[in-house]
Amino acid sequence: MVGLGYVGLPLAVEFAKEGFKVIGIDLDQRKVDSLNAGESYIPDVPTEEVAALSRSGKLVATTDYAALREADSVSICVPTPLRKTRDPDMSYIIASADEVAKYAHPGLLIILESTTYPGTTDEILLPRLKARGFNVGADVFLAFSPERIDPGNKQYGVRNTPKVVGGHTDDCSEAVYALYSTAIEKVIKVSSTQAAEMVKLLENTFRAVNIGLVNEMAIMCDKLGVNVWEVIEAAKSKPFGFMPFFPGPGLGGHCIPIDPLYLSWRMKSYNYNARFIELADEINMNMPRHVVGKVAEALNDDGKPIKGSRIIVMGAAYKKDIDDVRESPALDVIKLLSDRGATVDYHDPYIPSISLEHAGGHGTKQSVFLTEQAVRAADCVVIVTDHSAFDYAMLGRAARLIVDTRNAMNRLNSASARIVKL
Ligand SMILES: NC(=O)c1ccc[n+]([C@@H]2O[C@H](COP(=O)([O-])OP(=O)(O)OC[C@H]3O[C@@H](n4cnc5c(N)ncnc54)[C@H](O)[C@@H]3O)[C@@H](O)[C@H]2O)c1
Repeated sequence: MVGLGYVGLPLAVEFAKEGFKVIGIDLDQRKVDSLNAGESYIPDVPTEEVAALSRSGKLVATTDYAALREADSVSICVPTPLRKTRDPDMSYIIASADEVAKYAHPGLLIILESTTYPGTTDEILLPRLKARGFNVGADVFLAFSPERIDPGNKQYGVRNTPKVVGGHTDDCSEAVYALYSTAIEKVIKVSSTQAAEMVKLLENTFRAVNIGLVNEMAIMCDKLGVNVWEVIEAAKSKPFGFMPFFPGPGLGGHCIPIDPLYLSWRMKSYNYNARFIELADEINMNMPRHVVGKVAEALNDDGKPIKGSRIIVMGAAYKKDIDDVRESPALDVIKLLSDRGATVDYHDPYIPSISLEHAGGHGTKQSVFLTEQAVRAADCVVIVTDHSAFDYAMLGRAARLIVDTRNAMNRLNSASARIVKL
């Protein structure tokens, strides 16, 4: 398993539990040391499982790609972020493809898992294997299989989430199907690596576009003075042809805000403008500004400007009950409020500190210890992430004003705070 992050580690553990000897390769020495000491660093992967697998020798980690010499298959799960220019950053896939090709040997099955633009497996992995003189599909086998892990999801994990695979040839598909069927309940074959790459982009674009749509609904409802949450709740009663999506402070995480842009970038080389993707991106990217606008309006109603106000942001993670802050809209909300002169603290039991560099700011901030007194003293509390661990009753009792971007206060029967919804 190459790349032992949110995707690679759960996959590695599932294969090790099935009895395979799994070698994890990661350039991050701390992750390697942690796994070899039997400790997990991913909340969805229990440390007891890692400890048992590490003790039995089923799971070992290294920074050295030479370990591939003893592997029968390799799954590549390295990051695919965007550059500052919002173009795909392929450097991680290229770096790992170079190493995998260097140590490839007859019989090796190579599977790319990272989310990427259609054509990546053919354009980056295939030529490197051919350059080594391999007949791909006969000497070595090549496939793409999109990872579908949903961090924090208690119902669906690696084992019971169906997995799509697409090989460079039919034999490549057969090989990956045979391997993945050992640890995953349902494996679905598609006809090519490119189709498998596109499956993931359809899934994530579907989410990005629908979230963009519902965020725009929230903006329109706001102008109309209609409660968007009530509208969604009622629309949900339709048993067919409707699937609820919910508005929020903006997209976050490593997938939904990023992956569709891999596709729209790719389509530019076909002289095609992926309009739904661009539009959804524009609306979703603007949500933190919309939230700050709501805060400004709400404070204004109390006769206060943002400048000089004390604001507590609840939650920094991009979604509830996880410890991942990548692309989180909380960073933008905090930066925008700070830029306008507010004194902003944030509280998140999962995220002890944040760097504001990603949102174009400077420095770091530490999560504050939240007391009822601090909530009483704040001019506004902004709920950005609706972690289950938050004491919503206390917020409702102690806060003067709450801007609730997740409809989290809906769970309360009564609250003395003035609550402004997205
Ligand atoms: N996190 C998710 O929910 C999720 C879900 C589905 C798909 N994906 C996709 O899976 C891929 C991996 O995402 P992730 O969330 O696991 O990322 P991550 O950052 O958690 O993990 C990636 C790991 O790869 C390592 N790495 C980087 N370069 C390397 C190299 N050259 N050789 C070996 N290791 C290297 C990093 O040190 C890191 O540990 C991405 O393409 C992502 O879009 C992520």
